[in-house]
Amino acid sequence: MQEVELGKAVPPAYKNKDAAIHLSTLPSSSTSYTPMGSYSGLDEAEQRLLVVDVNENEHGSGNESSDAKIQIRELSKVSDKSVPILNKVNVDIPRGVIMGVIGPSGSGKSTFLRALNRLWEPPSKTVFLDGQDIGDLDVLALRRRVGMLFQLPALFEGTVADNIRYGPQLKGKKLTDNEVYKLLTLADLDSTFFGKSGGELSVGQAQRVALARTLANEPEVLLLDEPTSALDPISTQNIEDVLVKLKKEKGMTIVMVSHSIKQIQRIADVVCLLVGGEIVEILKPDKLSEAKHPMALRFLELSN
Ligand SMILES: Nc1ncnc2c1ncn2[C@@H]1O[C@H](COP(=O)(O)OP(=O)(O)OP(=O)(O)O)[C@@H](O)[C@H]1O
Ligand SMILES: [Mg+2]
Repeated sequence: MQEVELGKAVPPAYKNKDAAIHLSTLPSSSTSYTPMGSYSGLDEAEQRLLVVDVNENEHGSGNESSDAKIQIRELSKVSDKSVPILNKVNVDIPRGVIMGVIGPSGSGKSTFLRALNRLWEPPSKTVFLDGQDIGDLDVLALRRRVGMLFQLPALFEGTVADNIRYGPQLKGKKLTDNEVYKLLTLADLDSTFFGKSGGELSVGQAQRVALARTLANEPEVLLLDEPTSALDPISTQNIEDVLVKLKKEKGMTIVMVSHSIKQIQRIADVVCLLVGGEIVEILKPDKLSEAKHPMALRFLELSN
């Protein structure tokens, strides 16, 4: 077993290149996280590291950074009134996992997510996709690779099929009917939806059409901002099942903001706790009770 640094609350260590965090190593079922040191205040939390044991055989070369799909380095944002919204966020998002992002309202979760496909333009050299600064990529090409779903689906006029064909059409590719049916199936919708208009759909069904539309671009990463908060439990489960399938069958990397701790525990492989624009904890979903940051703890207690 090789001990690999998994992540840490806030980044002073990252300033030393050799101490860069490696959340990039896929947490496996055999993974255990060991908080180092004890927590007694924010300063200590800032220095506290989480450690993961990784089975070398399972994860290959030992070149952990190559397993990071997205690397975030010293990502900060301040409001027009100079209030910090994100404060030196450092994290590696491992390839092919579902990362849950939780935290109190206003803690910067949506801002963090929007930086990853440049809905908010992050500063240069703060967000890397497969090692490339996303600021250097064509923004539309980036958004094909890094698709996003919001809380409420906004479908375009026309049929479900028109919506699903939209993205590929922009690239001059017309999806065949068969390809559209496959995408409907992938999003857990049957073929009867093909010719329906947006107005005929429930919010849960429309959300799955929005998912199929995003998947038509064959994204490598899916960003989800509370995608099921407006849905009933069955629609929620449908979406969760699809996400897990996308991870397992397509190796998709998924970053999902959710207010539901239970949802995160059902489907996430790793959880980022964002408080006041800072990542204060990175934990496995079944270890959330081991969070040490007081605000994080309070948030978790009240959410349960
Ligand atoms: N364009 C903006 N200009 C100024 N402040 C902003 C802007 N966008 C967000 N903020 C502020 O940044 C902070 C983080 O907002 P964000 O929407 O990222 O939080 P959140 O964690 O997603 O919250 P919620 O759980 O309520 O969705 C909030 O205090 C918000 O008021
Ligand atoms: Mg939000």
